[in-house]
Amino acid sequence: MIDWLYATIPVLKVVHIAALLMWCGGLLALPLMLAGTGPAVTAEHYLLIRRATHVTYTICVTPAAVITVIAGTWLIFLREAFVPWLFAKLAFVALLVMVHAWIGHILAKTGEEPGKDNPPHPLLPVTAVLLPVTVILTLVLAKPAFDWIEFPRWLLEPRGGQLPFEIPSR
Ligand code: HEM
Repeated sequence: MIDWLYATIPVLKVVHIAALLMWCGGLLALPLMLAGTGPAVTAEHYLLIRRATHVTYTICVTPAAVITVIAGTWLIFLREAFVPWLFAKLAFVALLVMVHAWIGHILAKTGEEPGKDNPPHPLLPVTAVLLPVTVILTLVLAKPAFDWIEFPRWLLEPRGGQLPFEIPSR
């Protein structure tokens, strides 16, 4: 029964990588799209950018982030990747999630209070995205050994513990 689960690893990896491309690409594109709004643009142009950024964020970028995390979490258990580089990677994924929320906040503010508060220069959010993404890709592709850090054993191996409740048997 578990064999077919292991057979899904390549599919999950493809889904993980396709979704993270959409997630990270979208996070880079959104601040650049928003840079098109300014005091000089017409109301019609503003509405167009506002709609495009809203749809991109809610229909593409956020679902892609959720799919990346779900596929990645399955991969942790199927690949038994209880390894220090993964924990370091997860810390930077958390940072990327915060940047994701910040960009969402900028989009919402620009939409709700047009002309009141200009969005930050796109270089700022783009750098904030590129920083964790570069570190994550370095960690995941180089899979560096962190032997010099003493990790507790419980963090590095499945515990095989019992759940605090009975699991119904079919
Ligand atoms: C909560 C979020 C994430 C989790 C739990 C997660 C977990 C994983 C796991 C367990 C693998 C398999 C590693 C292996 O087979 O040795 C993997 C592969 C990969 N992840 Fe993630 N990941 C997450 C987010 C990301 C993000 C945001 C990026 C890039 C910005 C990323 C880039 C990659 C790449 C490129 C691979 C393929 C590496 C390879 O097969 O050598 N991941 N991920």
